This record gives sequence, structure tokens and C-alpha cells, in this order.
Amino acid sequence: MLVTGGAGFIGGNFVHHTLRHHPEYEVCVLDALTYAGNRATLRPAAGSVEFAEGDICDAELVDRLVARSDVIVHFAAESHVDNSLNGPEPFVRSNIIGTYTLLEAVRRHGGRFHHVSTDEVFGDLALDATRKFTEETPYRPSSPYSASKAGADHLVRAWVRSYGIAATISNCANNYGPYQHVEKFIPRQVTNLMLGGRAKLYGDGRNVREWTHVDDHNTAVHLILSHGRVGETYLIGSGDERNNKQIVELVLELMGQPPGAYEHVPDRPGHDLRYANDTTKIRTELGWRPAYDDFRAGLAATIGWYRDNEWWWGPLKETAEERYLALGR
Ligand code: NAD
Ligand code: DAU
Repeated sequence: MLVTGGAGFIGGNFVHHTLRHHPEYEVCVLDALTYAGNRATLRPAAGSVEFAEGDICDAELVDRLVARSDVIVHFAAESHVDNSLNGPEPFVRSNIIGTYTLLEAVRRHGGRFHHVSTDEVFGDLALDATRKFTEETPYRPSSPYSASKAGADHLVRAWVRSYGIAATISNCANNYGPYQHVEKFIPRQVTNLMLGGRAKLYGDGRNVREWTHVDDHNTAVHLILSHGRVGETYLIGSGDERNNKQIVELVLELMGQPPGAYEHVPDRPGHDLRYANDTTKIRTELGWRPAYDDFRAGLAATIGWYRDNEWWWGPLKETAEERYLALGR
């Protein structure tokens, strides 16, 4: 099994999950170790996975690795919306050209390909709507990040239809859990507070996200690999919707901080209001259920992980906050 982006947040957790629950796979990680990739994430798997440091846009390297893989799970991407607003070029390159490069190798050599995508390709929902995204929702991405992921999804669909490659796509909601980069919402607040700073809320904090534990995402990906129908798309999400202010208040409570220990900072341009996935298809077809059905407990465990693993996130924090300072957020 070739796992692209296996030194990142979800890909790293996927590698650990695979070694624990699917020992039948020999795993090779392909990762360029961008600012978001971290070899330390794979330290617990040292000796059990092969690591290829390299770029998914490197056609020769990708060809060689895909040629000897039965299964390719594609996580590698530029993943942070704020960075995409500030500098879209690496998003177009890694997310679109990188996916294209992998698809061409799969077209030549075969193999079962799974493309890990996001619910952000569908744009956003109104705060007062009860409607959710489904597999049939038209694409309407808002940011350079989500547009580049949408482009990649379209390439995968075209390669299935025109060349008959054996691919599936999943579009998951927001993930949380261990090994998430400190630029992302929950780890940023937790580590700010651990260092004596304040939580930072974009705009009025009413934007809603559907928080899904990274292990539940990865269980779903494995189910799609083993039982999903080739050519199909599956939405993934816990169903647990909360606005950002509620998340910050819960983080503060769980960390024993006063409820007002946060500040409002300027909003993200084009900030998507709400994401919510209708997961009927993956639940009924594949029997997927999130194991983390208590967000409070999952969040408390995640905060505990950051408390215990400052060695992992400490070296990343200063640079991440410098980037936010430059953006005024
Ligand atoms: P991440 O930023 O933590 O990790 C991305 C990894 O990809 C890093 O290890 C990085 O080094 C690697 N990478 C980036 N560009 C590369 C390139 N050109 N060649 C090789 N490796 C490269 O991201 P994440 O949060 O783990 O997201 C993983 C995937 O899941 C992405 O495709 C993302 O779009 C998708 N996704 C994320 C979420 C979420 O909440 N984080 C939700 C749904 C879907
Ligand atoms: O929905 C899936 C997507 O979730 C993935 O495709 C992306 O890769 C992933 O980064 C995530 O995107 P978001 O933009 O939703 O996540 P982020 O962690 O950047 O922000 C979550 C929400 O919190 C969003 O409404 C912006 C807000 N926010 C973020 C930061 C960093 C704040 O209020 N304060 C902050 O400091």
C-alpha cells in the first residue's frame, strides 16, 4: 500500500491505524515533508513502514512507487485554507498536478486508488438551513484550497470514466485528533492556552463545522477500500455540528480557563459559513458508524495528547504564529 501524505495529520494517523488493524498491508509512505509534514509523526511506526521522501509531482518517482503498489491511498495535499488565500500556487501544483501525476501512473500500472477529499468542494450552507451536502450536491468551492481539491476530484472522476481506473473518492468533514498541525483551529487554541496566550476567534465565531475524529475518518477510508464501489463517492462526517464560539468555550472549560479567555480577530476572507454532510450512503451501504460519538470526550483526549506531546508541536508553533501575525489574525 502506497500512502501519499503519510507524514501529515490524517495520513500519519492512517498509517498507525493500518499497522494496528490491517497488518496484511506492507506500507510505503510518499511525502515531500513540506512545513506540514513531520517525520516525528511516524516515529511510533519506525521500522514498520518504508518512507520515500519525495514530491507527488515527480512523475518518475511516482511511476516507480505506483508500479509496485496494489493500493494507493492519496492524502498528500496543501491543506490549509488561510495559506491558500495568501499564496495559492502550491495548492494548484500539489493538489491538482500532484493528483494528475498519480492518476497517470495508476492508468499505466493499475492498482486500487482512493482519493481523500473534503466537503469544502461543495461550498457552504446557510447558517439557518437544515439541508446538508450529499454525494449529488453540485461543486461550488469558495477558496483556492477547495477549488484545487474540487479540480482533483474532477480529474479522478474523469480518469474513472474515460480510462476505467479503479478509484473511489471520499469527502470528509473537519477532523480533529492527535498530530494535527498547530495552524489548524483546535490545536491552535489549545497550544495558545498552554503557552499562556489567548484563543483566537475569526469574526463573530458563528461559522459551523462538523467535527469528526481522525480515527473515524480512517475507519471509513478502510471500509471504502475493502467494500466501496469503484467509481463512487462517499461523504464522511460525525453529524456533530458546532459553531466556532462553542468550540472555543468548550476548550476553555476543559482546560480550566475562564470562559472569556479568547479574543475576536479579523475574519477569513470568503469564510464558509457552515459545512454538514449527509452520510446516509456510507452508513447504509458500508455500515460505517463513528466510534467517537462523544465530542467532549474526544476533545478532552485530544487536549491531553497536546499536553503530553509538546516535543512534537513545540518546534512548529513560532513559525505558525508568525504567519498569523502577518495576516493580522
Ligand atoms: P496536512 O497538511 O496535515 O498533511 C499533508 C501532508 O501532505 C504533509 O505531510 C505534506 O508534507 C504532504 N504533502 C503536501 N504536498 C505534497 C507534495 N507535493 N508531495 C508529497 N507530499 C506532499 O493535511 P491533513 O489535514 O492531514 O489532510 C490530508 C488530506 O485530507 C488532504 O488531502 C485534505 O484535503 C484532506 N482532508 C482534510 C480534512 C481535515 O480536517 N484536516 C478534512 C477532510 C479532508
Ligand atoms: O471541512 C474539511 C476541511 O476542514 C479540510 O478540507 C481542511 O483541510 C481543514 O483545514 C478544515 O478546513 P477549515 O477551514 O474548516 O479548518 P480550520 O481549522 O482552518 O478552521 C476551522 C474553523 O475555525 C473555521 O471556521 C475558521 C475558524 N478559525 C480558525 C483558526 C485557525 C478560527 O476561528 N480561529 C483560528 O485561529
